[in-house]
Amino acid sequence: MQAPTPDLVPEGARQIRTAVVIPAAGRGVRLGPGAPKALRALGGTPMLVHAVRAMAASRAVSLVVVVAPPDGAPEVRHLLDEYPLPGRTDIRVVPGGATRQESVGLGIAALPEDVDVVLVHDAARPLVPVDTVDSVIAAVRDGAPAVVPALPLADTVKQVQPRPDGAAEPVVGTPERALLRAVQTPQGFDRNTLAEAHRSVAVDGEGATDDAGMVERLGIPVVVVPGHEEAFKVTRPLDLVLAEAVLARRRATDGYV
Ligand code: C5P
Repeated sequence: MQAPTPDLVPEGARQIRTAVVIPAAGRGVRLGPGAPKALRALGGTPMLVHAVRAMAASRAVSLVVVVAPPDGAPEVRHLLDEYPLPGRTDIRVVPGGATRQESVGLGIAALPEDVDVVLVHDAARPLVPVDTVDSVIAAVRDGAPAVVPALPLADTVKQVQPRPDGAAEPVVGTPERALLRAVQTPQGFDRNTLAEAHRSVAVDGEGATDDAGMVERLGIPVVVVPGHEEAFKVTRPLDLVLAEAVLARRRATDGYV
């Protein structure tokens, strides 16, 4: 008789279903002129494709919802069709909104009912290792309502009083560096917690820059798991140089595609 595989679920229990929402609707203006950031190539492959593959690399992930630029969903669908994923992972594409928060909200709205755990992952973090993805999922499955991967800071951070006129900004505080963490994605959530945060938390201006921050506003605890230095966000031109170097090393040593 064949031995049961670890993926088999006891009779009567439903398998926990994990999906990822990838907001990819940003223009990426800080990267300089050109195509929307997620569609720019890294080692000849669009950044978004790397990000989708990074999520699909986790055996726990059964669905990836990509949130495309508002007018670009057909183009993104077409692009992703050119880069098939392993059979266990479905992919949906929905149009995004004016802010990251809006785009994530539209991605959540596209999730099927039976999804219990939701990860939100920036398309702009194409090289996050699968171990980081798996440890976020494991922490949510173990009962944490919200989980963020994070790293200690190298730089000391100052809080300033911004000056719209371009004058020198006065420093108003220096938080103790040892107490600070730089947070990355994927951030992981119990589905109801994330949906409730997006239903009820309003953030002025540009909207929330991360989803865990919205959960914090509900008074629900958020925990940290170790992040990874290769999960950095490609924001400025120098980040592209670094990403190309990491990719070249992986291709030379790990058979990465
Ligand atoms: O601009 P920032 O680097 O914070 O964007 C983080 C992620 O949010 C990126 O993957 C970007 O494509 C996405 N985003 C979005 N919709 C927006 C703005 C940003 O999906 N309107």
